[in-house]
Amino acid sequence: MITKRLMYNDGKTALVTGGSRGIGRATAITLAETGAFMFVNYREDTRGAEETLRTIMDNGGNGEICRFDISDFQGVHEAIEEMIDKKGSMDILVNNASVSIDGLFVRTKEQDWDTIINTNLKGTFNCCRAVVKHMMKQRRGRIINISSVVAEMGNAGQACYSTSKAGIIGLTKSLARELGPRNILVNAIAPGFITTDMTASISDEIRNKLIEQIPLSRLGTPRDVAGVVAFLSSPDADYITGQVIHVNGGGYM
Ligand SMILES: NC(=O)c1ccc[n+]([C@@H]2O[C@H](COP(=O)([O-])OP(=O)(O)OC[C@H]3O[C@@H](n4cnc5c(N)ncnc54)[C@H](OP(=O)(O)O)[C@@H]3O)[C@@H](O)[C@H]2O)c1
Repeated sequence: MITKRLMYNDGKTALVTGGSRGIGRATAITLAETGAFMFVNYREDTRGAEETLRTIMDNGGNGEICRFDISDFQGVHEAIEEMIDKKGSMDILVNNASVSIDGLFVRTKEQDWDTIINTNLKGTFNCCRAVVKHMMKQRRGRIINISSVVAEMGNAGQACYSTSKAGIIGLTKSLARELGPRNILVNAIAPGFITTDMTASISDEIRNKLIEQIPLSRLGTPRDVAGVVAFLSSPDADYITGQVIHVNGGGYM
C-alpha cells in the first residue's frame, strides 16, 4: 500500500542495512516515500533485496541494492565510499541488519557470541565509522540504530543478542554527544516483538502469552518501526538526539 508522505528527504541519500526483508525492507520503502535515494544493503538474499527495490521503484522512488557484510570493516568502508562517490553525499544511515542465535547461556558457543557481537555491534560501529567523516564535512546527518526492547529488559535465552543491542544504545548516546555539535543526530529505536522472519519461529502459545502483556493487544508490524525511522529522519525530529524510542505497543514502559 502506498502511503502519501511529505517529501522531506528529497535529494538526500540514505542507506539501510539488512533491507532484504522485515523491518529493513519496510524502512527502505518508507524512506523512499519521503524522497530519499535508497541504498538497500543485504548480505545473502539478493532476491529479497531486489523485491524491496522493485517496491520502491513501483512507488515512484529510486535506489540501488548493495551487497556487503556489515561485520567486514574494510568491505563496509569500500562499499560506502562507492555510494558517496556516486551520489555525492550520505545523509541518513539506518543500522538495521542483525542476527540472533538464541539459546541458554550455559550452552552458548564462543563462535556464536563472536558472530552476534561482530554483526550486530561491530557492524553498527563499522557503518557509523564509514559515514561519520562525510557527515561531519557536510555538517548534517542522521544515524538511526535499531536496538531492541531486550537491551533494556534482558531476555532469558538471548544473553548475547541483548548484550549486542545494549551496546548499540551506549554507542548511540556517545555518538550523539560527540557529533551533536556537527549537526549529526544519532538515535536508537527499540522495537518490541515485531512480526518478521526473526520472530516467525515463536510458537502460537508464546505468541498469545506475549500479546496478553501488550496493552495494544497485538505484535508490531515492520511498518510500525519504519514510520518512527521516517520521523527521526524528518525535520520534525531536528531537536531529538541520543534518545531510545520504544516501539512496543506498551509491552515495556
Ligand atoms: N523482529 C523483531 O521482533 C525485532 C525486535 C526487536 C528488534 N529487532 C531488530 O530489528 C532489526 C530488523 O529485524 P528483522 O526482524 O527485520 O530481521 P530479519 O527479518 O531477520 O532480517 C535481518 C536482515 O539483516 C540482514 N543481515 C544479517 N546479517 C547481515 C550482515 N552480516 N550484513 C548485512 N546484512 C545482514 C539480512 O540480510 P540477508 O538475508 O541478505 O543476510 C536481513 O535483511 C534487527 O536489528 C533486529 O535485531 C527486531
